[in-house]
Amino acid sequence: MTGTPEPSASGLLADIADVGRDRTRGGYSRHVFDTAELELREWFAGEARRRGLDLEQDRCGNLWAWWGAPGPDAVVTGSHLDSVPGGGAFDGPLGVVSALTAVDILRARGVTPAKPLGVVVFSEEEGGRFGVPCLGSRLLTGSLPAEKALRLRDPDGTTFADAVRGAGLDPERIGADPDFVGRIGRFVELHVEQGRGLIDLGGPVAVGSTVIAHGRWRLTFAGQGNHAGATPMDDRRDPMLPAAETVAAVRRIAASAPGTRATVGRLAANPGGTNVIASTVDLWLDARGPDVPSVVRDVESAARAAAEAEGCTVALSEESWGDEVVFDPALRDAVSAQLGGVPALPTGAGHDAAVLSAHVPAAMLYVRNPTGVSHAPEEFAEDSDVDAGAEALATVLSGLSA
Ligand code: GLV
Ligand code: MN
Ligand code: MN
Ligand code: MN
Repeated sequence: MTGTPEPSASGLLADIADVGRDRTRGGYSRHVFDTAELELREWFAGEARRRGLDLEQDRCGNLWAWWGAPGPDAVVTGSHLDSVPGGGAFDGPLGVVSALTAVDILRARGVTPAKPLGVVVFSEEEGGRFGVPCLGSRLLTGSLPAEKALRLRDPDGTTFADAVRGAGLDPERIGADPDFVGRIGRFVELHVEQGRGLIDLGGPVAVGSTVIAHGRWRLTFAGQGNHAGATPMDDRRDPMLPAAETVAAVRRIAASAPGTRATVGRLAANPGGTNVIASTVDLWLDARGPDVPSVVRDVESAARAAAEAEGCTVALSEESWGDEVVFDPALRDAVSAQLGGVPALPTGAGHDAAVLSAHVPAAMLYVRNPTGVSHAPEEFAEDSDVDAGAEALATVLSGLSA
């Protein structure tokens, strides 16, 4: 069935508000190929069909809905439907509902784009399940080798290879697809703002200027697992000690490196019993800024010193890396001009648009978030700003696809 739904990004967002709610953590937990994310993929497919768009899945599991036959100068918009654990309602889905709504708005305005228009849903943008953010766009563009991705494991031990097989994809075909990427002439991602930038500027919409350099590392501390009651305090090699000291060192080191943001948001004691001295502790470091390599070096030496003092060892491995991105200035200025001159904002968050920008001119639109909070249930956007964002996106797409 085709039809022209009444354009409303806030209405579409309300339609998926019950999918993947996390009753334990609060907010949403929607991870690639889990029940909630698969339900959202189905929802997206239905919305695409309802609009008469042609749906396809690329070899890496990203979903594409086309208005017009895809060709080399397509204008593509979209975002992702997965979330961080206990994330907000807007990070990702806002860009998808705004893209669908922009199609509706263009149709309501009687606009038929001269260029093909695509709406994309990228897979595993947050890295919430397999640890590497923007997995779908990195794989499709070839910035992450398939062999490396297929070996990634989720916290339950399932490999990415098994997960893609389970979702009906062929692990042998996962990997770069330059022809597919070659269809994208320009890419625009709309996203909820993840800081206070737009609150301070007093407007509902901004255009993206830069994305901070960022990466993730895992530090594994190993000691001697033992009995919590039977082991004297002076006879322990407890990896939790150097892990705790490393958490404090991360804060100290980042605070003295200008422009740096470093976080330990995830830590796992193994085997994880209250009455068990851990045998190993895994700690994940997220570090972003102008000189991350030196920050990571300093963290590693602090971790090593703390580990040695406790008779433990530590091993560090990189899980992902993305260089700083400066969005195409000509496209950024064109997008801003189409909107009557909106401000340009840098971001400390990573995005598929940043991955794509190494291959095609890419731009971002941000929608005001009055709480300034993101990756948490308090992330928010007023309905009126959500709808203003979709209008802005439609205007931009209309200009770019003419
Ligand atoms: C993803 O949103 C990230 O920046 O971590
Ligand atoms: Mn996002
Ligand atoms: Mn995010
Ligand atoms: Mn992101």
